[in-house]
Amino acid sequence: MTEILQWDASLSLGVAEIDEDHRKLIALLNELATHIAEHQAREELIVVLENLLSYTAWHFRHEERLMQTYRFPGYMAHKREHADLVQEATSFQQKFLAGEQDMTMDVVALLKDWVLHHVLQTDRQMAAYLVEHM
Ligand SMILES: [Fe+2]
Repeated sequence: MTEILQWDASLSLGVAEIDEDHRKLIALLNELATHIAEHQAREELIVVLENLLSYTAWHFRHEERLMQTYRFPGYMAHKREHADLVQEATSFQQKFLAGEQDMTMDVVALLKDWVLHHVLQTDRQMAAYLVEHM
């Protein structure tokens, strides 16, 4: 098992349902890293990448629902960050499926950096608000 990112208390945002999602997201990222490290078949990588991206899309909608329900003022900017990542990741996925781009640890490292930055900064602001208003 290749752990490119480990969940720990520093990633906890104080909103249990969001923390749960983030744990699952990190587990899927580690699964992708493991498959790459073990040189798994391309068909396997396709499935693992699809799982990661569809879970990510579900999780973003989950956060967006919470932000809307509790009228978080930073909703639009946060949603745009989600949309930008989905667009970038989907375009990578299409190139990978077309055989135009390889799935490497560099790709996983980029995803990891994005998750860390997003969770520690953007999500932290949202969670601080939700803790007060939920
Ligand atoms: Fe977010």
